[in-house]
Amino acid sequence: ERVVRAGSTGNLCRSAGSTPAPLGRSAGSTPVLGLATGSTPVGTYRELARRHREDGLSFAHCRAFLLDEYIGLPKAAEQSYFSFIRDNFVDHVDLDDAAVFSPDGEADDIAAEAQRYDAAIAAAGGVDVQILGIGTDGHIGFNEPGSSLKSRTRVKTLTEQTRVDNARFFDSPEDVPHHVLTQGLGTIDEARHLVLIATGESKADAVAAAVEGPLSAYCPASAVQWHPHATVLLDEAAASSL
Ligand code: GLP
Repeated sequence: ERVVRAGSTGNLCRSAGSTPAPLGRSAGSTPVLGLATGSTPVGTYRELARRHREDGLSFAHCRAFLLDEYIGLPKAAEQSYFSFIRDNFVDHVDLDDAAVFSPDGEADDIAAEAQRYDAAIAAAGGVDVQILGIGTDGHIGFNEPGSSLKSRTRVKTLTEQTRVDNARFFDSPEDVPHHVLTQGLGTIDEARHLVLIATGESKADAVAAAVEGPLSAYCPASAVQWHPHATVLLDEAAASSL
């Protein structure tokens, strides 16, 4: 493990996992981004947008896949993860809307949609860099505790804790959907590089379980431990239980 101090904010950057493998690249010249929703990566998306504006960083040749989506919410709904990524990232860079993919939470056949989405990621050559947040219960994507480490994209039922945590995005807590489509831990594990970001004390215990606890389905984020090229970026508060 390696710990470095990054920037003037005193943020900690700790690499988890074994010796980093050389970073491969998706087939062809179309890099594939894996995008996470939630408040945590918003600062990352803002910084990428700033680099786009000021330094000419371009995403025009990229494709992007979202980790997850609520079931039953139209893609255009304000709270859908597709809308979230559009509002917080895609609209601020030169990434083509048509190159951004999310699971269809309104599909008639949800099981078939899950398989289709998994296959679409593979057909794109796999994800090059997957950004991840972490839930207070250690979930990544919407893989709640108990998720198989080899799971593929599928339907999950949210825990009450996750629904409460995400209620701030909805008019009322009852509006938070109970079911979601999420990339599985096995799907996420196939990305060439994982970047898990956590900030704030509310994430400290989940981070400690993920980084220093056993590799276990009961802490889905512990999957970063067996990934050959994972980076965990923490602020001091999120690192406080390590
Ligand atoms: C949701 C998302 C996760 C995200 C988590 C934490 O459950 N499905 O991808 O990591 O929220 O969100 P936040 O960063 O807002 O704490």
